[in-house]
Amino acid sequence: MTRSEEPLLARPTSPNSSNEENIEEEDALLTGQSTHRGPNKFARWREIGIFVWALIATVAVIILAVVYQHESSIQRHRTGGWGSDGRPTGKRNMIFMVSDGMGPTSLAMTRNFRQHASGLPIDEVLVLDRHHIGSSRTRSTSSLITDSAAGATAFSCGFKSYNGAISVLPDHTPCGTVLEAAKRAGYMTGLVVTTRITDATPACFAAHANRREYEDLIAEQMIGNYPLGRVVDIMIGGGRCHFLPNTTEGSCRGDGTDVVAMAKDKFDFSYIDNKKDFDNLDARGGVKLPLLALLANTDIPYEIDRVHVSDTYPSEAEMAEVALKALSAATKESDKGFFLMIEGSRIDHAGHGNDPAAQVHEVLAHDKAFAAVLKFLEEDNTEGVLVSTSDHETGGLAAARQLHETYPMYRWYPEVLANASHSGEYLSAQWHKFLDSSSTLSQKDKQDKLADLLTSGLGVVDYTQEEIDAIINAKPIWPPSYLFADMVSRRAQIGWSTHGHSAVDVNIYASHPDHAPGLVGNHENTRVGEFIAEYLDLDLEPITEELKSKGVKTSGGEQGDQEWGEWMGPHGLPINENGLLVHIDEYHGDFKHRKREAEFGVDCGCGMRH
Ligand SMILES: *[C@@H]1O[C@H](CO)[C@@H](O)[C@H](O)[C@H]1NC(C)=O
Ligand SMILES: *[C@@H]1O[C@H](CO)[C@@H](O)[C@H](O)[C@H]1NC(C)=O
Ligand SMILES: [Zn+2]
Repeated sequence: MTRSEEPLLARPTSPNSSNEENIEEEDALLTGQSTHRGPNKFARWREIGIFVWALIATVAVIILAVVYQHESSIQRHRTGGWGSDGRPTGKRNMIFMVSDGMGPTSLAMTRNFRQHASGLPIDEVLVLDRHHIGSSRTRSTSSLITDSAAGATAFSCGFKSYNGAISVLPDHTPCGTVLEAAKRAGYMTGLVVTTRITDATPACFAAHANRREYEDLIAEQMIGNYPLGRVVDIMIGGGRCHFLPNTTEGSCRGDGTDVVAMAKDKFDFSYIDNKKDFDNLDARGGVKLPLLALLANTDIPYEIDRVHVSDTYPSEAEMAEVALKALSAATKESDKGFFLMIEGSRIDHAGHGNDPAAQVHEVLAHDKAFAAVLKFLEEDNTEGVLVSTSDHETGGLAAARQLHETYPMYRWYPEVLANASHSGEYLSAQWHKFLDSSSTLSQKDKQDKLADLLTSGLGVVDYTQEEIDAIINAKPIWPPSYLFADMVSRRAQIGWSTHGHSAVDVNIYASHPDHAPGLVGNHENTRVGEFIAEYLDLDLEPITEELKSKGVKTSGGEQGDQEWGEWMGPHGLPINENGLLVHIDEYHGDFKHRKREAEFGVDCGCGMRH
């Protein structure tokens, strides 16, 4: 017999199967053939055993097949509110999720990390991975690299605008948003974020400002103190400091306006400001709308830090679930559903901080929130659609990094991220607290403290003297938070090309491709805004006209004299003779720019442009 004619399962006797009988048994298990051995008193029992084993295996295979079938057909049995004529029909809900700053590499890095950390096989992908339907091109009118304001204006109005624009067009006129139009059309509306509720992404849905930095103004508009009145039914997130008068501890307002009092008295909001009241919403008779829940003074901590204080701050998924339940209950008797925007806001911040450990946990938290929304859509009586995308990528993230002149090994090390239990931001705060605790700290005190922080917070035990010295001597322009995060990135061999945003296309996800047919493939980001309006059958033009018409001085009437001309704040950017924003849509001349920006002084981090 030649080698190629050997039976497939023939093999030489190995130390592990030292006799004929074992080989036969193994072959029987593999081939399902009987072993043809003579009767002995255990044979019957063995046959029964094999039968039971086969039965269990078959049942297991069927169960796995059902589970897999279920997973791969998520949402397929729901129409998503689409009629047989290819048009949306009937009562329906739209949930729009934004993963701020999450580019394609964030997904690969997080998927790799999760498989490593949880010991999962390579086909155990993220929930988002199974719902990828397309990609979005993100440039703004003022730059090839957008910021979150121009990015969210594309989603809210369906128009490109300049970086920094809060639902305002390049000619500094307001554009009606999908949330405003949805409210007018009879839908209920909500915003859920993990950063300040006045930050660019949520602001673009329910406010209009010439610059994103006008967060005090944006806070007032979002509760209803602007031409359209109140348009949001539920807001959950951080950013309390912009709602408290400057006479109050924890305020970051520039004036004495009490926006919380205004929300309660003038616009009938119920207000909560802590996790305990958030957890007790059900016990207190359910969510009373409109609800303003400001659960952090500024940002909700990164997920990697939040899990240590989960009794103080809720997760993105927990906030999403409360909003979904409240909006579903509030629209139960209505023939119109709701529009809810949910943002995983701080994926972007982890990108700005070049902090890969913080980022993978942010992406996982967003993935969990995405799964929670899918579950809601599966179970709710009303049809609905989930669409999720990013406004842009942040950090120029690469899941590879060449550290030496020698040609690199093809590796990156998720175990380094798995070792970290805190973010660079958290460690930096701890470090500053320590520095402020005494004016007589010795060099040794500082080194010991850093050794402790690096070991306990990052799981980095092989720190060098240079790294310790760099943190002790850090300058504000390159702060300790960057240095902590860089220690993790280098060890993990994760690369970053910027502390800002990048121009790469970002992914689009949906509950099912059939639920968002207009977003399958590669699109300008404005297509996302257009899709939301089409799905909810909204006309944004009358809202735009109303906003513009109220941009003039009115006299008398119920509200007395009002000067709406300045209601969106000063322009803040140069306008050319045609009344258009001066574009910088040509080669920017990096070195010249850096010099000009340096004249404005070092950024304190408080007004960082995200
Ligand atoms: C608080 O705001 C008022 C204006 O409303 C201003 O006059 C005052 O200087 C502010 N106080 C502080 C401490 O910023
Ligand atoms: C993780 O931390 C442990 C100590 O807690 C350390 O011994 C180990 O080397 C670290 N692993 C990596 C990959 O940094
Ligand atoms: Zn950003």
